[in-house]
Amino acid sequence: MCGIIGIISKQPISSMVLEALKLLEYRGYDSAGIATLVDGDIERRRAEGKLVNLEKRVNAEPLSGTIGIGHTRWATHGAPTERNAHPHATEQVAIVHNGIIENFAELRAELEAEGIKFQSDTDTETVAQLVSRNIRTGDAPIEAVRKVFDRLRGAFALAFLFKGEDDLLIAARRGSPLAIGYGEGEMFLGSDAIALAPFTDKITYLEDGDWAVLTRDSVTFYDENNAQVSRIVQQSAGAAYVVNKGNYKHFMEKEIYEQPEVISRTLAHYLDFASSSVREDVTNIDWSQINRLAISACGTAYYAATIGKYWLERYARLPVEIDIASEFRYREMPLSKDTLALFVSQSGETADTLASLRYCRAQGLPIAAVVNVRESTIAREADIVLPTLAGPEIGVASTKAFTCQLSVLAALALSAAKAKGTITPQKEQQLVQELASLSGYINQALKLAPKVEAICRDLVNVKHALYLGRGTSFPLAMEGALKLKEISYIHAEGYAAGELKHGPIALIDETMPVIVIAPYDRLYEKTVSNMQEVAARGGRIILITDAEGAKHANVHAVATLTMPEVPEFISPLVYALPIQMLAYYTAVFMGTDIDQPRNLAKSVTVE
Ligand code: M6R
Repeated sequence: MCGIIGIISKQPISSMVLEALKLLEYRGYDSAGIATLVDGDIERRRAEGKLVNLEKRVNAEPLSGTIGIGHTRWATHGAPTERNAHPHATEQVAIVHNGIIENFAELRAELEAEGIKFQSDTDTETVAQLVSRNIRTGDAPIEAVRKVFDRLRGAFALAFLFKGEDDLLIAARRGSPLAIGYGEGEMFLGSDAIALAPFTDKITYLEDGDWAVLTRDSVTFYDENNAQVSRIVQQSAGAAYVVNKGNYKHFMEKEIYEQPEVISRTLAHYLDFASSSVREDVTNIDWSQINRLAISACGTAYYAATIGKYWLERYARLPVEIDIASEFRYREMPLSKDTLALFVSQSGETADTLASLRYCRAQGLPIAAVVNVRESTIAREADIVLPTLAGPEIGVASTKAFTCQLSVLAALALSAAKAKGTITPQKEQQLVQELASLSGYINQALKLAPKVEAICRDLVNVKHALYLGRGTSFPLAMEGALKLKEISYIHAEGYAAGELKHGPIALIDETMPVIVIAPYDRLYEKTVSNMQEVAARGGRIILITDAEGAKHANVHAVATLTMPEVPEFISPLVYALPIQMLAYYTAVFMGTDIDQPRNLAKSVTVE
């Protein structure tokens, strides 16, 4: 989603802005731009599409200036064209924005009624025009900006650059994240610590409602009531997030292959493998006070959480409500104080998940969050942080974050089960040992890559695909369909295998691939019946099972991926691998932009 950078320096900054924008690319974008002050006047370069287009523009018409702002835009209001690319500027001010100004239509109508001509279709330009109007009527820049905050509804991170003000940037945050970075005679602002990593490791995160006035040597913070406040400076881990692809073709491929290591690292945080037990104090949750959970998450994190629900209910006997975060706070679910509100998010910045967290905070619930980015807003606002130690995930399609989320949720279920006495010490030992054996199984699954690739050669020609599974393989089927949709643009749906006959079976014919996730477990026979229903209608079954499952399948599958035999508890973690590889290799054959698929953002900071 949109990325922001701002720099005040003593040296020319346009190449620094471009460097930071490259680090923000992973968030997803469809146009980019930069503005600097040249002899006191605002100058811009903007371009549709990838950053390389902006770089060409800047090379053709270089931008001098020691102060400036830059932006990668993920279109919300207005097509992804140069005209709508940020920075948006008037003669007096240039701004970059992440978020949505919800009341932009009424603000625009007000300004147009005064004769102001807009140059773009964006919500953002209304902010530039409002500030500009204040400056034209006599306000100094800081006052002009301050007055505008009260007029804006919605979520935003904003940065402002002013004509004739060579030592002033203003940053503001309501909803969308923004950080300030400290240099020697230089100051920075950026959407995240990654963007600031090349320049500084000293940063301050703006709190919600904050705004800040930056000069080369200072920063002054104000809260939502415009009172001057101090904010802590912290050491940033942003540099650790600046990673490259190594020998892999795509970040997604690299991240798939990192899974044995990052899963082990994550599990070791929660489990003591030496004694095959759950670490006592690691979750810091007082389970004696908790009688149920309400989980909210989006996308892949939601599917991970859905698998977690099966585990929490089965092993800890805790009822779990689970919602897509964008639905949760509107359905007015009765919430009692013995409910642990749990949020799952890789980025820790997803606007819908954050809004649900704040809703639960307002209801007085204890709040825990499974997050990958430790410095994120969700991590900072939760009472209890349950980290996934996946390391930076750059590919927009989530892979290792998903399996690390599963790892944390599995450990959490065991921790709750142990505290509540719903599993015996022997069972705890057995389940921890099963988790300890995961990296071996995952390495075996990775060896299936050539077979998966062969299957994908055919998948490139299909328009639709179905994924089926039962039990924990059902959310995995939905995750598989999401992965395929995201990066290959093939329409896919994940269904509970038993639900097939209630509608989707109408879609089955000889052109429809049906990917069946069916480990040989207590649900296997039922799934076989559903496979038979597919086979009887000519559907092309791609079966993902183990050797026993393959032996007992009794239906014609066009392809079978034979997985290692794994205990039922950990099977979603192992079966996630072929699911991810199916999407990955299909997209490779199709030649899509795998790490930055069209229309998608890594960090979805608008509701
Ligand atoms: O950062 P989050 O985990 O909160 O993100 C949630 C979803 O936006 C994310 O999982 C999305 O569905 C991925 N692109 C899936 O691959």
